[in-house]
Amino acid sequence: MSGCKSKICNPPIGVSGDPTGVSPEIIEACKELNMTNDQLKQYMDSLLDNIQKGLKKETNATAIVKCFPTFVQDIPDGTEKGQFLALDLGGSNFRVLYIELGGQDVQKFQIFVIPDNVRVGSGDKLFDFIAEALANYANELGVADKNLPLGFTFSFPLKQVGLEVGLLERWTKGFDCPDTVGKDVVELLKNAIAKRGDVQIKIAAVLNDTTGTLLAAAYKYPDTKIGLILGTGTNACYIEKQSEAELFDEPDRGSGKNGGAFGDDGALDFVRTDYDKDVDANSLNPGKQLHEKMISGMYLGELVRLATERFTKEGKMFGGQASNDLSTRGKFETRYVSEIEWDPPGDFTNVKKVCEKLGLSQATEEDYLNLKYICSCFSRRAAHLVSAGLATIINKMGEKTLSVGIDGTLYRLHPQVKRLMEGKIKELVDPGIQVKLVLSEDGSGKGAAMVAAVAAKNDT
Ligand code: BGC
Repeated sequence: MSGCKSKICNPPIGVSGDPTGVSPEIIEACKELNMTNDQLKQYMDSLLDNIQKGLKKETNATAIVKCFPTFVQDIPDGTEKGQFLALDLGGSNFRVLYIELGGQDVQKFQIFVIPDNVRVGSGDKLFDFIAEALANYANELGVADKNLPLGFTFSFPLKQVGLEVGLLERWTKGFDCPDTVGKDVVELLKNAIAKRGDVQIKIAAVLNDTTGTLLAAAYKYPDTKIGLILGTGTNACYIEKQSEAELFDEPDRGSGKNGGAFGDDGALDFVRTDYDKDVDANSLNPGKQLHEKMISGMYLGELVRLATERFTKEGKMFGGQASNDLSTRGKFETRYVSEIEWDPPGDFTNVKKVCEKLGLSQATEEDYLNLKYICSCFSRRAAHLVSAGLATIINKMGEKTLSVGIDGTLYRLHPQVKRLMEGKIKELVDPGIQVKLVLSEDGSGKGAAMVAAVAAKNDT
């Protein structure tokens, strides 16, 4: 694909959702994807109510947005030093990382593809796989016997009861190892490592990717108060006052919070479409993570595919002829959405390639414009929903200026998401609040080392 893959290039300006040349019937059919500010405000009221329930002791158990404390009580101040290992499980790839902080920050990592029969199956198999990857990489780097502190970025709903203890609530994003639910994932990892006996490490912390993202951004931009992931999944964490965080009992200290599965109680039903319901019904976790399923990279391509397939079958696109791939689940990858939207106005390079890949070689220029418009409607809805989520937290925090550290493939690769978010957040936050969106460089990796480093400082 020729589209620019990073934020270094200038994205095409002002083309997201441009209806020029798009068939009127496609514009009409996509209207339900355009959320008004009134709808977004309704969403924000309901999310705030859910966050408040998640924060309170007596309502947390039944709350949909859990707001689990992270047990991270300090943000890095740039003086953190040392060698660390990190594991990053829960994004598009599983990674083992080696990180040196202080002086010249060094970072090396190895990526491992998790086979389907490991992602879904027994917990032993998954944790043995992780331990093997860790041992092999640590041995390759010659640090296996150094007892280095390790930060374990585990990006699934986890009820943390300490910095190094986390009980798995449930799996998301296509993972499912049912025998581990309710168990301490740090213990599972320790056991898998001990069984092998060929690597000595000290697990210093388990953390969510949003926490790592907040910390990694704060290292560079000290006014960062929120960490957001917009990648395979989506979630945010923020720094909350002790008085609000009833689940975190230590006096006089701030604490971060993770919010997650908004919508699972029907709060989003007023904006969910047939495509959203289809994606949910065919997922490994139906009825769960409904907010995430409208937004994140694991689902966006499939949402576009479902709409395009429907419009094609209704005779609105591709001469009414859907190809096998267009009719097959998972064949429209989310990266195609970004790539298509990278095409400048009047240029059909990427959209044409995607159509060819999907066996839609009969596509006309009008089909290209229609497909690009469909992509932009789903991306815009995702960007607006995520902005409304952020605005809810920002208004609740009451800070006048702050930065939001953001990571995730969708945020990094999509040409319009950042711009759309900046615009919508401005419209939805209370007057006088200044918000900056900053890219958090590898929060899940570097952030894990930082949590381990901050924990080490507090130990001494
Ligand atoms: C998980 C969160 C995670 C988010 C982003 C969600 O599916 O439940 O814990 O932070 O994905 O990776």
